[in-house]
Amino acid sequence: MIERNKADAPLKVLIVGLGLIGGSFAASLKASGRPCHLLGFDLREEYIDEAVTLGIVDEGCRDFAVAVQKADVIQISVPMLAMPKVLANLKQLDLDGKVITDVGSCKGSLISAAREIFGEVPDNLVPGHPIAGSEKSGVSAAKTGLFKGHKVILTPLENTDPDALALVRSLWQSCGAQVNAMDVKRHDEVLALTSHLPHLLAFSLVDTLAGNPENQDIFRYAAGGFRDFTRIAGSDPTMWHDIALGNSEAILASIDRFTDGLEDLKQAIIDQDSQALQGTFERARSARRRFASMLERRAYMASLGDEHNSCVTFVAQSGGSLKGELRVPGDKSISHRVIMLGALAEGETIVDGFLEGEDAMATLQAFRDMGVDIEGPHEGRVAIHGVGMHGLSQPVGPLYLGNAGTAMRLMSGLMAAQSFDVTLSGDKSLSSRSMDRVVKPLVSMGASIETSEGGRPPLKICGGQSLQGIDYQLPMASAQVQSCLLLAGMYAEGKTTVTTPGIVRDHTHRMLSGFGYPLEVDGNTVSLQGGGKLKATNIDVPGDISSAAFFIVAASIAEGSDLLLTHVGINPTRTGIIEILRLMGADISVLNEREVGGEPVADIRVCYAPLQGVEIPQELVPLAIDEFPVIFIAAACARGETRLRGAEELRVKESDRIQSMADGLVALGIEAEALADGMIIRGGKPFAAGTVDSHGDHRIAMAFVVASLKSEGEIRILDCANVATSFPNFVRLACRAGLTLSTEGIQA
Ligand code: S3P
Repeated sequence: MIERNKADAPLKVLIVGLGLIGGSFAASLKASGRPCHLLGFDLREEYIDEAVTLGIVDEGCRDFAVAVQKADVIQISVPMLAMPKVLANLKQLDLDGKVITDVGSCKGSLISAAREIFGEVPDNLVPGHPIAGSEKSGVSAAKTGLFKGHKVILTPLENTDPDALALVRSLWQSCGAQVNAMDVKRHDEVLALTSHLPHLLAFSLVDTLAGNPENQDIFRYAAGGFRDFTRIAGSDPTMWHDIALGNSEAILASIDRFTDGLEDLKQAIIDQDSQALQGTFERARSARRRFASMLERRAYMASLGDEHNSCVTFVAQSGGSLKGELRVPGDKSISHRVIMLGALAEGETIVDGFLEGEDAMATLQAFRDMGVDIEGPHEGRVAIHGVGMHGLSQPVGPLYLGNAGTAMRLMSGLMAAQSFDVTLSGDKSLSSRSMDRVVKPLVSMGASIETSEGGRPPLKICGGQSLQGIDYQLPMASAQVQSCLLLAGMYAEGKTTVTTPGIVRDHTHRMLSGFGYPLEVDGNTVSLQGGGKLKATNIDVPGDISSAAFFIVAASIAEGSDLLLTHVGINPTRTGIIEILRLMGADISVLNEREVGGEPVADIRVCYAPLQGVEIPQELVPLAIDEFPVIFIAAACARGETRLRGAEELRVKESDRIQSMADGLVALGIEAEALADGMIIRGGKPFAAGTVDSHGDHRIAMAFVVASLKSEGEIRILDCANVATSFPNFVRLACRAGLTLSTEGIQA
């Protein structure tokens, strides 16, 4: 048992090795205000003097044994290959009640050295590695903020003393670092790829070029790319020498992987293979962007189970009216589907108007991860090089689908029929939504799918199953389930027939026909035979009526509004919003109707008109299923009572939309009563100023922005980052149309 930090005496921390990392650790602890007495030891006496002069340590120590005797915590910050020597020196001393930790970049070699020296790894040794640094070295480069916001990985073993671990963790946290724990082997593999390999490449490139007789010219003309790529070649050679040898196994594996990739590029150039080159560059660019978003902690990288998602607050000022002309982004349902069908088609599919929102981008990335070359999106244009029905390859890891329920439900049908195993995962919200409605019928077709408790993601789908056609009567009106089964049905033996209890959006079967897949449609029943093929085609994605809905309601409730929304999809399975608002008295004209890529499209003009409450007709519920959050806002502005029943599906969307909306409306002073399957709203009064929680649900967030047009004061809406899942430029468009909206926190 480790006994330390007697009573309230300051913790005595000895830094062994006063270089950049050791010096910065001491300086950061000091700046944190945590009561510590900092001791510094280094073989280079001038470093000790400098650390004392700079005020980085409180006491310089020239005698190692005396320094260790005084310390509660010993932080070893020497180059990797010097670590065993320090451990061997420590072994000679009394270490009882002391905690030992280190900052080395390779953990496997440290653990082996400790095992060799001590017989077994001491339980008071907590291996650590701060993922921070600089190409500068030495104590004079030490910085108080070096670890702020950076990750520190601790790699405790089974026998590591939990108190020692907690103490080291808290010291790093005092330096402002985020501390994670990881297995030793995994740490070394990850670091070999993300840090060690890039450093070796930078050193090697500069060395290769510097050895060139024309180096003068090369360095003279080397521009930004060379500078960016090789910055880290200025790092400490001793440290990198030690890392290269200390983590040699994982580094050699990473060099092999890199060499294979470079060989492929070389071959593609030799073969003049534009598609392979373009594919590699596109995949890399999109991975780099995702990575950049992750570093900026943008919403879609909620991927990594992120709490940062809740950081964006919308602040909407009261009043305003909507004028002018707007084009909303592409339809989300169609954007998902075109990637899926385009990827499985034979030939190249060109898409225009693709929604560059996070949900559709998650689908696009998933297919890239399965080896499909997809160019773009560039201003809405995407080129998909289809691989055919059986051309997908197994992704290296789980397919991460973010917040996208549609992607997960539809893809589970496709994935169930592949020859390889795959795992579908999602963010916190998606991981709380049951997938049973698709898993059950898929299993009855012969699929093998394992879920977490309650049918929740991740979905572990076992490949290589042969599926049988099914005749399935859906218990709920769901386009996602119907689409999932039709997609699985393309791979099944025999005929798959799916009947929905009401009308649901029909984009899947429209698009299947567009891609040349024969199917039969009879009312609410759709059938297809397995074993067919998809032929590439070009698709023009219309504006999403579910995004336009916010502006349709906004212009309807804000006096003086006259707004034209151009190129909006008006598929009759989606126009419930227009019909319901017209019943309430809205002034909406559908102009210039035309058909684009198999989908009806129109321009929609909306002028202000006083609204009255209505009983929402049952048959319109599935046709407006995504628009109820903003319809509730319209209802709150309408005189009299609005009643919605038969919409229990709203409880299982990105949030429980009945509860989220009722709570928000009540918080803004509106009389709203949540029912199990709907809501009663007595409207006609302005909204009070206040704060509402969107519960990370994009449509709840945008609906309450619309409410601000009729509010008595500012409305603050919490947890809005997910607006980017369906409507990436919402804030800009809303401001352009006449709302006064700003954001706080990380940008959506
Ligand atoms: C969608 C279908 C609807 C809808 C969702 C998109 C689709 O879900 O709410 O936003 O693209 O198929 P259900 O199928 O669960 O009704």
